[in-house]
Amino acid sequence: MKTYDFRSGCTDPASFPTANLAGYAVQAINDVGIDFARYPEQGHLGLREVIAERESQREGVKVFPDNISLMNGSMQAVTLIAEALMEKPGDIILTEELTYSGTLSIYKRLGAQLVGIPMDEHGMRIDALENTLNELHRKGTPPRFIYSLPTYHNPTGILMPKSRRLELIDVALKYNTVVVDDNCYGDVHFDGKKEPSFYALNESPNIIYLCSLSKILGPGLRLGYLLARPPMFDRIMERRFDGGNSLLAASICAAYLKDNLWDYVTKANFILKKKRDAVCAGLESSVNDICTWSHPVGGIFIWVKFPSDVDRLKLEALLNKKGILYGHGSAYHVKEQDIPYLRLAFGYCSLEDIHKCIPLIGQAIRASRKTMAQTQVAV
Ligand SMILES: Cc1ncc(COP(=O)(O)O)c(C=O)c1O
Repeated sequence: MKTYDFRSGCTDPASFPTANLAGYAVQAINDVGIDFARYPEQGHLGLREVIAERESQREGVKVFPDNISLMNGSMQAVTLIAEALMEKPGDIILTEELTYSGTLSIYKRLGAQLVGIPMDEHGMRIDALENTLNELHRKGTPPRFIYSLPTYHNPTGILMPKSRRLELIDVALKYNTVVVDDNCYGDVHFDGKKEPSFYALNESPNIIYLCSLSKILGPGLRLGYLLARPPMFDRIMERRFDGGNSLLAASICAAYLKDNLWDYVTKANFILKKKRDAVCAGLESSVNDICTWSHPVGGIFIWVKFPSDVDRLKLEALLNKKGILYGHGSAYHVKEQDIPYLRLAFGYCSLEDIHKCIPLIGQAIRASRKTMAQTQVAV
C-alpha cells in the first residue's frame, strides 16, 4: 500500500538537485584529494565558508567559519550541547511547552528534567520564563540552558517577533542562563518579514545557534552545524569525540551551494509555499466548522486543533488504513499530554497527494468524534 507521509519533517523530493549535485561531485572530490586521508575535525572549510556567508547575509551580523562546526545533522548539535552543558542526570533544561519531538526524546534519554514554558501566539511567554527562572534559582536548581525554536516553531509554526526575542535574551542573561536557538527552518520562509536569530541580537557567548541543510536540501545529507562564540564554542567542541563529519558530503554540497544557494532556496520555497496553501485550502473546505489550524509564514508544519471528543486511536486507525501518517499532538508536548492536535508536515507529499489526502484526514476527524457532532461520512 502506498503511504502518504505527513509525519516526517522532510523536504520536497522533486526539488532535490540530483543531477546538479552529481555535476559538482567530481571536481569537489578532486579538490579534497589527499585530505580524505585525514580526520576533518571542525569540518570542510569550503562548506563552513558558504555557511558563514549564508548566515551573515540572512542575519546581518558577521559570522566566521572558525566559529562553525559541521555536524551529522543538527540533531548531533542538539545532543552535543546537552552532553557538554549538563553536569548530572536530573539537570533541568527549559523548552517551549511544545517543541520538536526529537529533542524531547534525546534530552529525556540523557536524563534531563524538562520544564516546559507556556506559549502564546508569539512563542515562549516571557513572564512565565522569568517566573520559572526565579523559582529555580531560589531552589538552587538553575536550568542548564533554554532550548528554543523562535523561528517557524516546530510544531506550531509560530514566528517569535523581534521584541519578544529581545525580552527573552534579557531575561536569560539576567539569570546567567545559556540560550540555544535551534534555527533548523531558518531559510524556509514564505511571506512577510524575517526575524533575526538570538545569535544576531546579542554577542554573548552564552547564545548558541544551530541550523541544518536538512530543511533546504534534504535530511539524507546529514549536514547540520553549530555556531557559537568562544569560549562557548570550545567548551562544546571539547565534548566531541567522533572525528568530524563526512568530507565527501560536505565538499559536494559546498561546491553546489557556492553557486546555487539562494536560487535553490527560492525555488524550493516556492513549491513548499504552494504545498502549505494546498493543505490550508483542503482544511478550509473539509473541516473549517470543527478545526482550527496555523498559517505558518515559514517552516514545513501545519498544527491542527481538532475537537476534544475525537477518539485519537480511532483517528489513527482510520488514517492508517489509508496509509496516511501524521504527527500526534502528544509527541510534541513536553509532558506528553494528550492534547487535541495533529501536526501535518507538508514538505514531502506531492501536491496531488495533498489534494487527495487532506479531505480524507478531515473525514477521519469527523468519523472519530465520540459525541453529537459525528457526521455520516464514509472513510
Ligand atoms: C527543530 C528541529 N531541530 C533539529 C532537527 C534535526 O534535523 P537534522 O538533524 O536533520 O538537521 C529537526 C528535524 O526535524 C527539527 O525539526
